Formats: sequence, structure tokens, C-alpha cells
Amino acid sequence: MTKKNYILEQKCRICSSKNLNLILDLGEQPPANSFIDKNELNSSESKFPLRLFWCGDCYLVQLLDIVDKEFLFKNYFYMTSASKPIVDHFKKYAQDVYVEFLKEEKNPFVVEIGSNDGSLLSEFKKLGTQILGIEPATNLSNLANQSNITTKNTFFSSQVCKEIIKSRNATVVVANNVIAHVEDLQDLMHGIQILLDKNGVFIFEVPYLVDLIKKLEFDTIYHEHLSYFSILPLLKLVEQFGLEIFDIRKQSVHGGTLRIFVSKKNNFPINDSVKIFIDNEYSLGLDKIEFYQKFSTNITKLKKNLIELLLRLKNENKSIFGYGASAKGNVLLNFCSIDNQILEYIVDTTTIKHGKFTPGTHISVISPEKILERGKDDIALLLAWNYQDEILEKEKLFRQRGGKFLIPIPQPELL
Ligand code: TMP
Repeated sequence: MTKKNYILEQKCRICSSKNLNLILDLGEQPPANSFIDKNELNSSESKFPLRLFWCGDCYLVQLLDIVDKEFLFKNYFYMTSASKPIVDHFKKYAQDVYVEFLKEEKNPFVVEIGSNDGSLLSEFKKLGTQILGIEPATNLSNLANQSNITTKNTFFSSQVCKEIIKSRNATVVVANNVIAHVEDLQDLMHGIQILLDKNGVFIFEVPYLVDLIKKLEFDTIYHEHLSYFSILPLLKLVEQFGLEIFDIRKQSVHGGTLRIFVSKKNNFPINDSVKIFIDNEYSLGLDKIEFYQKFSTNITKLKKNLIELLLRLKNENKSIFGYGASAKGNVLLNFCSIDNQILEYIVDTTTIKHGKFTPGTHISVISPEKILERGKDDIALLLAWNYQDEILEKEKLFRQRGGKFLIPIPQPELL
């Protein structure tokens, strides 16, 4: 392991408690999005412990092994626009937020934290709102600016917010799949407090811990995702900054996501959904360590079953390739030691990933066209399982030719 670019955090990210309990160990892994070039295959890769901890005081599930964010995000290969379901999701998202919170405003202003290639902001722009993106990855913020989506190439912070409000405050701040990446949650919430208009709304989407645990989505745990949110710890976080959660709505993307609505205190009526989520989390036992220990046992079983199935298929002379070179796929491959001896290659629609190799397992990533040649006796291990319906529909011919998809979670299954 390279110690450079890495620290071990000692206290809870929300409540500063030291009552932190190890609940799952996924071993030492390279950062899940750090695809490598051919000429790097023989060099040693940086690997870091990937372990999940649970705070016994505020119940936040989190990583304490922190890889330097400059190292993780400066060149980033996840592009929103590469996944059609996400583009569709964003279109509807912008329309819904517009109707509910922006339409009546004179000159609405939307700021997005972690705006990626500008996909969501471009939808808000089409609706006539003023927009600003904050995006730390230089390659992505350049792309967004080239398509006239004004983007600041920096990490979000309270300092950046102080700069922005010199021109104006935000009517709506959005953040999707980004809060989990933030190390300093206190500074983030302080930034939101500064940036929001008096009646402004902060809307964020996070994968829901309860779905992760119930569906054994262990491969969504990686160094970039520092926190795995449920509602109980989030309530504690927002209240430290005079903010409150006034609504929670479930979304189906990314294997189970929550859209959470936050405002300054006493601005919006609190929807019943908030109490429903809180009660449900207590009744499931999110405040007790046994809930998490059971999850860990289930993951160990899943790993064993998946490896056994892959070895059996190999013995039957089936040829296996991966479908979707997702970050979560890299976690699964590394955790289960599935390398280029087992998978021939991985097909993926993201052109910037083509010609690269998966971190740790060194499987080559190629264009999806290759699947046209595949069929009988071929197995596609679905690493982008969050797009299962869309991919199965798109690849019906592969299955008609006798190919099968292997869905790895929550239980390995051949379709
Ligand atoms: P994500 O789960 O982080 O969005 O990553 C999914 C990966 O799968 C991403 O690299 C794009 C890829 N992908 C395909 O190759 N084909 C598809 O049809 C879809 C929806 C995604």
C-alpha cells in the first residue's frame, strides 16, 4: 500500500464520536475509477484499505480510510451523459424541480455541486433558469464549459459559496450522488447555509443505505463514497446548521436512491414522509450493530457463491466477458479476485474508457460492438447491474443467439 495520498480518520464525520465499529472489510483495493493505460500494466498500483465502519452514536455508516481527493477526482472517467437512464432521470428531475420550486420565481438561480459534464444543468438552462456548476474534475468542467454550461473547476466549499453570493444567492442548490463523496460534511452544510436564499431549497440525491444492505449492493462501497446515508444521521447533520429535512422521496436509479429536500428552519411544512422514514429505520434496527453484522455475513456468502459459479462456467468451457466497466464493477472484481484469467474483456459505452484496463484486475475495456459477435456459450457478467432492464432489452439478440447474462447481486443468477 502507498501511504502517500491516504489518511485514517479517527472520528465520525457527522457527530465526531469515536464509537466507531468495523462492520465490513473489502480488503485493499485500488481506487475504483482509476482505470490504467496499457503502458502502466507492469507498474505497481496504489491500493488502500476499503473498510466500512458504523458510528454507534449517530449511526452514520462510513469509510475512515480516506484517499486524497485530488488523487481520486482530478481525472475522472465517470460521465453522466454516457448512461441514458441517468440522462432521462435528469430531464424529469429538472422539470419536476422547476414546477415545484422555480416557476414562480422572478429570476431563479440553480447551483449544482459536482455538476459533472453539465447534463442536469443543461436541462435547467433549457427551462430558462440561470445556472452555475461546481465541478472539481478538470476534464469534465472543461467539457461542460465548452457546451456553455458555466462551471467553476473547483471543489465545493463554504469559501466558494462566499464568492458566489457576492453576485447572488441560490434559489435551489442540487447535488446528486456527490454528498457521499464529501469528507468535510460540516463545511458542506455551512456552504449550503450561506448559499441558499432565505426561502431556498437544497435538494440532494444519495443512494439509500437500507437498499444497499437489503440488496447486498456491497460493490457500491468504494473509496470515493465516504458516507452511506440513512435518515437518522442526516437529521443530526442538518440541524447543526439551522436546516431541516422537509421531504424525502424514493427514486429507483442507482439501485435505490433518496431525493432529500432541505430548507432553512420553518420555511416549508414537514411532509409525513420524514416521520415514516425515521420510524422505519428504527424498526429495521439501523441503531443496532447486529443489523450490520448480518449484512457482512451475507456478503461473504455472496462472494463464495459467485466465485464457485464462475469457476464452474469456466470448467464447462464457457467464455465469460464483463458488461459495463463501472466503478462498482471494479470493487466486485477486486473483492472476488476476478481478473483477466476469468473475464476476456469488458464492454462499455464510455469512449474515454476504451483501450484502458481495469484497476487491480487488468481486464481490457472495449466498445460494446464486440457483443454482436457473441452468443452461444457466452456469458456476460453484468457489472452495471443498476441498468439491468435497459441492458437486457438492448441486448435481446445476444440472448436470442444463446448468450446468457450473469447477474451478480443480490444472488448470482443466470438469465
Ligand atoms: P455507473 O453504474 O457508475 O453509471 O456505470 C455504468 C457503466 O456502464 C458506465 O461506464 C457506462 C456503462 N454502460 C454501458 O456500457 N452500457 C449501457 O447500456 C449503460 C446503461 C451503461
